[in-house]
Formats: sequence, C-alpha cells, structure tokens
Amino acid sequence: MSSKSNGQVCLNRNSTQRQANQIPPLTGLSKKSTMESDVGRSTSGEASPLDFARGGELVEPHILVVDDEEYICEVIKEMLSDANYRVETACDPQKAMDILEREPVDFVLTDLIMGEKSGVDVLNKTIKLHPDAVVVLMTGRPTIENAVAVLKSGAYDYLIKPFSMDTLRAVIKRGLEKQRLLRENINLKETVFLYRISEAMGSTIRLDFLLNLILETAIKELEADMAWVLLLDEKNNRLIPKASLGIPPQMWESGFLNGNDSISRWVIKNAKPQIFDKDKIPPLAGFLPWEFKRKIRSGISHPLMAKGKVIGILTLIRTEGHLSGFTIGQIHSLSIIASKAASAIENSKLYEEIKKSYMQTLTALANAVEARDTYTRGHTERVWYMAQLIAKEMGWEEDKLWEVKMGGILHDIGKIGVPDAILNKPEALTQEEFEVMKQHPACGAKILEGISFLKPAIPYVLYHHERYDGKGYPNRLRGDQIPIQGRLMAVVDTFDAITSDRPYRKSKGFKLAIKEIKDFSGTQFDPKVAKILVEAWEHGRIDKERIKIKK
Ligand SMILES: [Fe+2]
Ligand SMILES: [Fe+2]
Repeated sequence: MSSKSNGQVCLNRNSTQRQANQIPPLTGLSKKSTMESDVGRSTSGEASPLDFARGGELVEPHILVVDDEEYICEVIKEMLSDANYRVETACDPQKAMDILEREPVDFVLTDLIMGEKSGVDVLNKTIKLHPDAVVVLMTGRPTIENAVAVLKSGAYDYLIKPFSMDTLRAVIKRGLEKQRLLRENINLKETVFLYRISEAMGSTIRLDFLLNLILETAIKELEADMAWVLLLDEKNNRLIPKASLGIPPQMWESGFLNGNDSISRWVIKNAKPQIFDKDKIPPLAGFLPWEFKRKIRSGISHPLMAKGKVIGILTLIRTEGHLSGFTIGQIHSLSIIASKAASAIENSKLYEEIKKSYMQTLTALANAVEARDTYTRGHTERVWYMAQLIAKEMGWEEDKLWEVKMGGILHDIGKIGVPDAILNKPEALTQEEFEVMKQHPACGAKILEGISFLKPAIPYVLYHHERYDGKGYPNRLRGDQIPIQGRLMAVVDTFDAITSDRPYRKSKGFKLAIKEIKDFSGTQFDPKVAKILVEAWEHGRIDKERIKIKK
C-alpha cells in the first residue's frame, strides 16, 4: 500500500494490489520537504558531502530499487525524486543484475522475496561487483532468521514493510554517509601509500627495493595475497619476472610466471587492465598444479606504461578465503600503483644507461693510461674482476659492487703523471724514480676529487699501495687504519702483478702468486681478505680465463 498520513508515506506489499487504484497522486511528494536538506543537496543549493561519492567526482548517488511489484518501485522513485539522487528501478531481479553489471551503484534497496531469484541474489551480486555499495533489504514477511541471515551476508540494513518515508530517507542518509566516510578513508589511504612510495623513490634508485615496496603496498591496499611484476623483453617478445611477493616456491617451479598466458598477453596487447576469476584461471596457468589453481579466488593484471608503451604488467592474486574478488573500482587504486612501478622501472633504466656510459668513459680513460705501458695491458680489467669477486664473497651489496668496479678501473689512473721513462723502465727503479712512482695513488685521488660521481672510487685509488704492517705508501697506514677498499685492492692488485710480465721480470704464474698471498698474509695483506682470495682460488670460484694474461 502506498498512502499518505501525518506527512508520511507507507508501503505495504500485502495491500498494494488491493488498493492499487487508490494510490494517491505522488506529485505532492516532490515538494521540498523538511527532510530534503538531510538527504541530498543542502538548502543553500551547494553540493553536500554525499555528492562527492565516487573518486572525488561530483556525482549524484546512484540508487537502484528492486521489487517485483512495479508500482512500488515507482512510488519509491517518486518519493526520492525531490532529493539529489539518480534513482533507477528494476521490477525483475535479472534486470537488476544487468544494471549492476553495466555500471556502479551506490545504494541498492531490494525486496527480499521475488519469485525464483531473491533479494539475497541481488545482494550477493552487488557485493561481488561493487563491494562498497550499501544494500538494504525490505520484506513484508519478517522473521528473525531472515534478518540475521541477510545482515550476515553483508546487507547494511533490513526494512520491514510497511515503512515510512522518513524511515527510508533516514536509512539512505545513514548508509550513504557511512559509505562516504569509507571512501574518504580509502582516498586517504591511497594518499598515504602514494606518499610512502614517492618518498622511497626519492631516497633510492634501487629497483629491487622499490618494486618490493610497491608490491608490498599493492598487496596491503588491495587485500591481495600474491603480487608480481613481469617486464617485456622487446627483443625476444618475452615476459620476464622482475619482482614478486607471496608466491609459494612450488608455483615458481611450475613455470607459472613465464607470462605466456592468455591474460598477460591480452593485457600487453590491449594496454588495458583485466580482472579474472577462477573460471579464467586454466588458460592463465597451463603449468600450474591443480592445488594452486584451486586456491586462486580472483586476479587483476594491470599494464605498466612508459612513454605510451607497455613495458610490463603488474598482477595481483587473491586466494580462496576472500569473500569477494577484485572489482572494477579497485582498478583505480592499482593504476596509481602501476604508474609508480613503471616510473621506478624507467628511472632505473635511465640510471643504468647513465652508469653504463660513465663506465665506458672511465674505461677509455684507464685504457689510455694502460696503453702507455705495454706490460700492464688488461691489468685494470683483471683487477676489477677479482676485486668484485672477493667483494661478493665478503657479502657486499650491489651498490658497493659498482663502486668496486669503478675503483678497480681507476686504481692506477694517477700513473698518468708518471713519465714514460719511469713507467716502462726495464731495470729496477732508483730511489728517486720510485719516489715519483709512489705519487700515483695520491695523484689519482686528486684527479677524482673534483668529480662527485667518482668520489666513491677514491679509497681504492688512494690506499691500494698501503701495507697491512704499515710499511706501504703514501700514508704508511697499518691494519684497520687502512680502509677496507684499500686492503681489498692491495691483495688483488699484487696477485695480478705477480702473474703478469713486468719490464724487469717474467710472470711467476698462478701457483706462486697464491703462495705469495699466503706468505705475506698479515704482513703485506689483510689476512681476512687474503684468506678469501686463496679460498676462492682453491675452490675454483675464480674464472682463470678472466685473469689470464692475453699477449
Ligand atoms: Fe698502483
Ligand atoms: Fe695496479
């Protein structure tokens, strides 16, 4: 029944048909009531907070009314027409499902019992497609069991027919207010995670660290269980795993992340995100064992774009145990994360390219110095290879290994100031000549001092002729007074000197070189560094081809 009494409108399913002809004209309901300012737009005509319902856009809340009695739908629509809502009606649950599939809704008011499909089906579909929509069920046949069941299924409220217009308006107002707060909270969370990622991007260039943080954030914010990034190798048209989080080792072993699946290919080809459910998993994971396939609830893949081109994909997975899969609304959050990941990858590529070109310049410079001394050809390359190898054995991190290479290439750069007559003298040097030769570490350090990018190489250059017993040069430092870079360089530099031909003697060979490193451990060399080199040699971890003298 639809009636108007004491300023209230009541609906009663049982009496609707009987009194259908008596429904009063509803135009009167469109007059601005005292409730108006509570529900939609404020009396001042300015947008109320409820207008900012989706993603900060100024939109009217979209309300879907579902009831198999068409005119009840119409009565409610008319009742709400004076408020600032966009109301759509469906007198058949299937039509409601179609609307839900078609576009986002903010509020669903649905009858509980409607022939074959019930309001619970509408509720479930809404939760699946638009998890933040508010769903209120209404019924003329209330039972405690029904009420408990629908509230447990995720409904926001439960209205018993007949209910008053004030009651309906109040429920809508409360529901949308709660939704607004929830969405604001999501926006705030997005801002916080963006801030965290941006801050990290400003503080480091390390791609592994940044991608790990991005995946961690994506998993947390989108309530996922696994995440990974695949990068497109354009030359071979292949996707290569770059970072992952939460993937069980068995999944890796199964070849799951080879990117050779229909969804990854679709995302790359169309440069658009895609959500996939369990039923799409088989083509996704041809190699994935059934026990893992079964556990996947939902997934979402997003392209990583740089300069308008797809450079990879970011994929998140929810496993069984989650009530719902990913939704279209979550693509927005993921697109922000994906754009940050793409920027991090692009920055890192640029940085690598700059590093590479710097290294080529440095190598050319070192080669120019080497070219003056035919006996030491290839010395710098062998030295940086050995130094990096020992540094890795000592557990140094990637950033430091780059410095080791730089230090190795540049360690003798100061020889640029040593005259040819001394550098290539076939006999032993006089004391005076040796004093000139001894200046090359300090001279090299001086050259590098003015170039901030090369500063990390200075300790390798300046201290590579210091001795552990304090009898080296230029500063006669001893033991731990010598920076570790110098102690490392001293061992590998001497090893290569022993195995090379010199103007005044022939190569002594690897065997004797290892013996000398052992014999002078603790006097000329730091015993810890010497031991690591000897062990690496004895266990065959040094590639002889790389340290062989090429005549
Ligand atoms: Fe040197
Ligand atoms: Fe050297």
